[in-house]
Amino acid sequence: MQIPSWPVSDNREIEFIQEVLASPQWGGFHEIVRQFEQKFASFHDAAHGVSVMNGTVSLEMALSALGIGPGDEVIVPAISFISSATAVSRVGATPVFVDIEMKSFNLDPIRTALAITPKTKAILVVHFGGVMAQMDRFAELNEAFGIHILEDAAHAHGSEWKKKKAGSLGTFGSFSFQNGKVMTSGEGGIVITQDEALADKMRSYSNQGRRKDGESFYHHYSLGTNLRLSAFQAAVLMAQLERLPSQMELRQKNVGILHQELKDIDANLLEFQRVPEECTAQSHYLLTGWAKNRDQLCRKLTEAGIPNTPFYPHTLYENPIYLDQDQAIVHECPVAEEAVNGAFWLSHRALMGDEATTREIAGKIREAVQ
Ligand SMILES: Cc1ncc(COP(=O)(O)O)c(C=O)c1O
Repeated sequence: MQIPSWPVSDNREIEFIQEVLASPQWGGFHEIVRQFEQKFASFHDAAHGVSVMNGTVSLEMALSALGIGPGDEVIVPAISFISSATAVSRVGATPVFVDIEMKSFNLDPIRTALAITPKTKAILVVHFGGVMAQMDRFAELNEAFGIHILEDAAHAHGSEWKKKKAGSLGTFGSFSFQNGKVMTSGEGGIVITQDEALADKMRSYSNQGRRKDGESFYHHYSLGTNLRLSAFQAAVLMAQLERLPSQMELRQKNVGILHQELKDIDANLLEFQRVPEECTAQSHYLLTGWAKNRDQLCRKLTEAGIPNTPFYPHTLYENPIYLDQDQAIVHECPVAEEAVNGAFWLSHRALMGDEATTREIAGKIREAVQ
């Protein structure tokens, strides 16, 4: 089966990298890093972007720049990659695990409202697989309780809620450029925000406490560290960002074919992630769904060479770090626990073949779920 490999690159990456190679600055102070931050932020409808080494430290930096720390609670979905929770723990705050919605796999806003306490400082939503969380409901919680809505948009490059891009709706949006993401420089991350003061704080923190109006390179005004993205990574990301819209279009088209080909299958056997109509664009980082014969489906897809994962092996709170230590608050999460046993995803790579390949994938899914 002709499933393309990932990551992809062409001459554009080489051109940008050569520009860096020819300069005397290969580190984070090369102009291309600022150019990339501005391009990415403006593509994502945000005023500011601060790039960093990955999508884990981006969350930690942004949470600490907001002053979130010991004694504070941050609500996180029970289903995500570990960084969504450990970032909260690493700044000294307490992650509060709340269930996901059955159909969308995203944080459930109703259960979230019930988990809010006087200690809740923020709600960290994850746009799972690139499908936007219920941002109108979370905006209502922000208004009613005055707590931050934070977007872990590591899956959602280019996704939109009512035509506004992921990461631009909350207090901040954090992205990852790790190898498997839909835009990658191998490793990398960025935080975008509309808040200039927050952006300045994050920039200073990630650049050893320097200030933009600082006296010299050797004046450090706060306790910072070095999280800078290198010029080579920014060079690759400039090209990756240019390519993102056409790749999203291709994935959208292929997902349309898959849905069309499989639409007659009983929802008890196979059901894809529900996409709210307000989600006007999506990255299609993952094609997620429920399957009655999930393990058989994944085994057969693997045999056919179709990249897939039988979901996370457990909820976030079942990771040893949160079992062994009294460091989290766990609400009942029946849907998350069911997802571990019944859900699966296909990698975005499986959505980037030609039409014949996509129809072949549909055929394999049909065979395996019945
Ligand atoms: C939802 C989510 N948040 C954060 C991260 C962390 O990103 P990174 O691997 O760049 O540290 C990931 C990575 O897979 C992720 O899926």
